[in-house]
Amino acid sequence: MERPRRLRQSPAMRRLVAETRLHPADLILPLFVREGTTEAIPISSMPGVVQHSLDSLRAAIAEAASLGLGGVMLFGVPEHKDAIGSGATDPNGILNVATRVAVAEAGDALVVQTDLCLDEFTDHGHCGVLDARGRVDNDASLLRYRDMGLAQASAGSQLLGLSGMMDGQVAAVRDALDGAGFSDTPLLGYSAKYASAFYGPFREAVQSSLVGDRRTYQQDPANRREGTHELLLDIEEGADILMVKPAMSYLDVLADAAALSPVPVWAYQVSGEYAMIEAAAANGWIDRTRAIHESVVSIKRAGADAVLTYFAAEIAKAL
Ligand code: PBG
Repeated sequence: MERPRRLRQSPAMRRLVAETRLHPADLILPLFVREGTTEAIPISSMPGVVQHSLDSLRAAIAEAASLGLGGVMLFGVPEHKDAIGSGATDPNGILNVATRVAVAEAGDALVVQTDLCLDEFTDHGHCGVLDARGRVDNDASLLRYRDMGLAQASAGSQLLGLSGMMDGQVAAVRDALDGAGFSDTPLLGYSAKYASAFYGPFREAVQSSLVGDRRTYQQDPANRREGTHELLLDIEEGADILMVKPAMSYLDVLADAAALSPVPVWAYQVSGEYAMIEAAAANGWIDRTRAIHESVVSIKRAGADAVLTYFAAEIAKAL
């Protein structure tokens, strides 16, 4: 008789045959940085996560480095917004300032990455600029992304995370960077990014002004084949790393990506995934530590080479 239980009988045996392991270097911590604040401000829908000041950002970077995390992903929360998201391309805009601060603090210890998208900086809250009829204008947005890419690379970002879901965004930013002497700056394509309800708490985190939704540019949760199409396009356009987002509800898409991609594939355990675990644990309904570990191990098991997660520092501490 086959007895698979033989390999489950002790903690040491289970550890020995574990197929998937977490390592701090495979974890990336997203960080929010708010303009004009002198201290960290809690985000109520994400207990334990804050909007950083530049000082608290320095401390968070130092901790991430000491824990051996793979990197951090920076998001800016500007004081002023406008229709074209001027703060995104301003060298003194909060994200670009924060990038310089983070790179100086991190040294060679971890990879400082930046979100390349206009939604935090536009007064309408969309990821691109709008045309005369109020629709998100793909190609006009690409021109803004080119400038945003140059601003981020100039600020020292070591990996640009293109999360706006405009067609052609990877090729456009690659072209802009190559033309300005930044051919060594790598691009992370948020290739298969779905229009998800699980981004809810993020909207509070970045004080989003969005009215409506992003369904004309982010993908329909119903579509798996389309995820493959988006992934293949980003590979063709020259993405150095691909991303699937959110993670837990899209493990099939992630497994597809891992099977087809010649470049690394990452996944983003998003704000709502974090908040659900925190909320259930706060009610005593699940074991928080085990749920955190299980959720991230499952994302790696499905094929992620690295995971963006708000639990990154906590997991690394436990390892
Ligand atoms: C776009 C962006 C979003 C997230 C990361 N990058 C918001 C969106 O697409 O609506 C969400 C991340 C999260 O929910 O944790 N700049």
